[in-house]
Amino acid sequence: MILVTGGMGYIGSHTVVELQSEGYEVAIIDNLSNSSITVLDGIEAITGQRPFFEQLDLREKSKLQDFFAKYGNIEGVIHFSASKAVGESVKKPLLYYENNLNALVYLLQELLKKSKANFIFSSSCTVYGQADELPITEGAPVKPAESPYGNTKQIGEEIIQDICNVNPNLSAIALRYFNPIGAHPSAQIGEFPLEVPQNLVPFITQTAIGLRKQLSVFGNDYPTTDGTCIRDYIHVVDLAKAHVVSLQRLLENKNDGNYEVFNLGTGKGSSVLEVIQSFERVSGEQLNFKIMNRRRGDVVQAYADTTKANKILRWISKYSLDDAMRSAWEWEKKIRNSN
Ligand code: WQD
Repeated sequence: MILVTGGMGYIGSHTVVELQSEGYEVAIIDNLSNSSITVLDGIEAITGQRPFFEQLDLREKSKLQDFFAKYGNIEGVIHFSASKAVGESVKKPLLYYENNLNALVYLLQELLKKSKANFIFSSSCTVYGQADELPITEGAPVKPAESPYGNTKQIGEEIIQDICNVNPNLSAIALRYFNPIGAHPSAQIGEFPLEVPQNLVPFITQTAIGLRKQLSVFGNDYPTTDGTCIRDYIHVVDLAKAHVVSLQRLLENKNDGNYEVFNLGTGKGSSVLEVIQSFERVSGEQLNFKIMNRRRGDVVQAYADTTKANKILRWISKYSLDDAMRSAWEWEKKIRNSN
């Protein structure tokens, strides 16, 4: 049995689908603070299997202990549960430190009770800040965090590393995501922001469907090809598959040392305007957008050197930017019941 915390969320639900497709039995813990119970129906519609589900907040230590007492056969954990809005983290730092770090500590305490524990941690390229060299390798220095959210990812990695150093029975892999986008090709699951989206792609699709009036492009005076920021946009299904191969690496004891880090991206950078052009190409829609001032905290460029994941995990992203934008659009139309 594999535990997926935050398995009702965007990346978590896509990972549950890929785990089930590989024959794993899955239990989800989620407090449904940023997702809906209907995600279970979407997962089942794709795989034909309904994961076990416990609505639980990982900060409730005793309930987490009860969970592990009930499910004694957890052989691996993929930990997605966390608050992840950069802007919100600046306004509510304590919420982020409590939710993202206390929960991690309680989870690790339970894992250390096992004779062998395998742990996959959802980290982020945000730990690199504005990297000095591009593409960004795992050896790039971790820069001072620009937000409490980013800090919780850095601290989370350090906590795990410190524990792995003195607990050989715990093996962990931290996966540093670049920019996850898109939705499952079936349009049964996808990104479902409950608030006004902070991220580019859901704002694009919500503007095109008429939920938002206009997309603000945060700055076109950056030192890049077209003046807009560059990111590495990776299809969420590619990202989900990388979690399965990472877990398998630990389950099969193929890991090199008991703490490893991998960048997960396409290795290709795309500008904001290129993402908009991709959307217009695949949707046939004309997007209403306006160039506005820069957004504080944005790095100019971030895209991954994927050599390590390609070679060691034998994983490579397969979907293109157009594939991702097409799936994001199909999902947006599905959830807004528009044709
Ligand atoms: C991408 C580009 C914006 C919205 C963040 C987190 C990262 C991860 C992904 C969680 C930037 C521009 C955006 C808009 C815009 N989150 N943009 N108008 O900031 O690269 O990464 O989300 O793990 O940790 O830091 O992603 O999608 O917010 O922005 O012009 O309405 O799109 O300026 O250049 P970001 P993003």
